[in-house]
Amino acid sequence: MTTVLAPRQTESAPLTAFESITPDTSIESLNLNWRERDLPQSLRTKHVHALHPYLGKFVPQLVEIFLRKYRPEHVLDPFAGCGTTLVEATAFGVPSVGTDISAFNCLLTSVKTHRYDLAALEQEVVGALDEAFSSDQFRFMEGRAEYKRKSYLTEWFAPEALAALTQYRLAIRGKKYEDVLKVILSRAARSARLTTHFDLDFPKRPQIEPYYCYKHSRTCSPTRDARRFLERYSIDALRRIRQYAEVRRDVESRIECADARSFQYPEADLVITSPPYVGLIDYHEQHRYAYELLGIEDQSDAEIGAAKRGVSQGAQAAYVDDMVAVFRNVASSLSPSARVVVIVHDRRNLYHGIAQRAGFRIEHELRRLVDRRTGRRATQFHESVFVWRAV
Ligand SMILES: C[S@@+](CC[C@H](N)C(=O)[O-])C[C@H]1O[C@@H](n2cnc3c(N)ncnc32)[C@H](O)[C@@H]1O
Repeated sequence: MTTVLAPRQTESAPLTAFESITPDTSIESLNLNWRERDLPQSLRTKHVHALHPYLGKFVPQLVEIFLRKYRPEHVLDPFAGCGTTLVEATAFGVPSVGTDISAFNCLLTSVKTHRYDLAALEQEVVGALDEAFSSDQFRFMEGRAEYKRKSYLTEWFAPEALAALTQYRLAIRGKKYEDVLKVILSRAARSARLTTHFDLDFPKRPQIEPYYCYKHSRTCSPTRDARRFLERYSIDALRRIRQYAEVRRDVESRIECADARSFQYPEADLVITSPPYVGLIDYHEQHRYAYELLGIEDQSDAEIGAAKRGVSQGAQAAYVDDMVAVFRNVASSLSPSARVVVIVHDRRNLYHGIAQRAGFRIEHELRRLVDRRTGRRATQFHESVFVWRAV
């Protein structure tokens, strides 16, 4: 029988309630609706979860709740994104496997879940800044030549910012922890683009002139400096990786840059995932600066539901077929008692049909209120949390 639970209008659960969730906790008593004071942003973005911005991430505590409720032995996330499921599974002590079609998202996940020699990492992060900004004119000229013909970079960065990013990129090549340094570089590049402060997610064109800033309620000027971001995010990355090292367990976590429709997953008894939507976000495009700066391979043609394909009837039908293919493929690796938790804003009512065609029945459908109060895109909507079982 399917349980459909609407969000509770009463008091939301205090945070400590998470720790008391066990397999005996009934699904009806899970409260997935938190107010800011119950689950403040600092907890939603704890340790490595905020190593780099990523649009489309789910709340890590949702993953934690279902790990506590179902106590799995192996977890899967076919749409791993920036790694929320894998990071939480590792903290919980359960081995996990994820896939994502975007190589940059896989880089983020792998950097978050990797185990580091913390002293060596600190030395490299600090050393990279020293090396990049020692007065090596040759390196600077080399970097300028490398990017001269890359129009995206020259269009979106002030020359001083691009020079600093280039020097850093060249300094980190071949380092033991180069991937961490790449993530620091990418985060600094994101902040150093010629954009307005209020539109870092989807800037439409480079902002060259001073502008009225809705975020700061004053006139602001686009930045010409990347070095201060590299320094700030170096410190922040080290702090976050150290915090995570204190809570993570020593279990395997594997991320593959692969298409979820065809990847051969290992056996698992719990899937926790949030799929891309129809025509909403281009997951490669949101990190275009990283692809350009780091020379990462672009596989956006295999992205399901990409914004560039729109929301026409044809795009929706293709999306449904793709999701059915993903979940059929995932189903072939699941143990008989496995559960699939799908967190999705199902505004087009597609997921009942997708579950059925992929060979699942809906055991529960929980609804949670998503209340985004910050930013210019403040919204409120109901998100579904489906729990599926194989038919
Ligand atoms: C909503 S996001 C997942 C976010 C994730 N739950 C997190 O918290 O970071 C959906 C992800 O699906 C990925 N994706 C889209 N098409 C894919 C495909 N064919 N195979 C694997 N991943 C794909 C996108 O790159 C994106 O990262």
